[in-house]
Amino acid sequence: METVYFNGELMPKSEVRISPDDRGFLFADGVYEVTPAYQGRLLGLEAHLDRFARGLGALRIEGDTTAALAGVCERLLEANGLDDEDGAYVYLQATRGVAPRGHAFPVPSVTPTVYGFARRIAWWSAERWERGARAVVVPDVRWARADIKSIALLPNVLAQQAAVDAGVDDAILVRDGIAREGSHANLFAVLQGALVTHPCNHEILAGITRAFVLDIARDLGIPAVERPISLQDLDAAEEVFLTGTTTEVRPIVEIDGRPVGSGRPGPLTHALYLGYRQLAQSALPPTLVGG
Ligand SMILES: Cc1ncc(COP(=O)(O)O)c(C=O)c1O
Repeated sequence: METVYFNGELMPKSEVRISPDDRGFLFADGVYEVTPAYQGRLLGLEAHLDRFARGLGALRIEGDTTAALAGVCERLLEANGLDDEDGAYVYLQATRGVAPRGHAFPVPSVTPTVYGFARRIAWWSAERWERGARAVVVPDVRWARADIKSIALLPNVLAQQAAVDAGVDDAILVRDGIAREGSHANLFAVLQGALVTHPCNHEILAGITRAFVLDIARDLGIPAVERPISLQDLDAAEEVFLTGTTTEVRPIVEIDGRPVGSGRPGPLTHALYLGYRQLAQSALPPTLVGG
């Protein structure tokens, strides 16, 4: 039986009742957050909850939704027997709440609906990792605030489905000749030995894993620059990889049927992957690193 969090309580998932007037259902009026946990230790929890609070602030969803959620994450892991698991995640979502349908915010304001669950992550085996991921390029048709972790994910859903339809693993979102990120992960390229990744602005989600990887690169003495990656850059890249909570550091070895570099995961991707795994398994309190 799966135990979930719903509006202040842990309960069996089967007992959750969500109103058809919930603005998450009617308007996708809400944000979500996904935090990884290794052996019960939530990695980068503070940074994840900060981003959640920033998203709620940007949408002007009120209520003290984030303060109590750190404890909720731990309780969800424990209640679902995931506190020993090497690779789990906690999903949290808040919507503006329940009100008769109307575009503007309800007056008086309503209490946000908050939902959370914890799951195991299906990590890629070492052998699967070595084979790497294949990707297709698709147009980035998202709204202009990709920095908000909105639950309105239809463009991401369609992008990932385009990848599935093409028989590959992921999609790279491109607009105006710039490869911004994956359908649910940030994008890095290696050009002349240096890491390149899109700067954090409204065009991408500021990934927590992205920030960890930039920290690890600095520690390893790998040069890194935050600037847009053009399609020409992508063609010329020695290595390309994705980063994300459930993606970790994942090499892309083929884009639109053409090999990236040697067509095998490259050395910098490998070093950063190992660095990330080490961080994930280290005993450092999560608040001391990343974000
Ligand atoms: C569009 C997008 N970019 C990047 C990321 C990676 O973010 P994080 O590393 O915080 O999981 C995600 C994660 O879901 C995402 O959906």
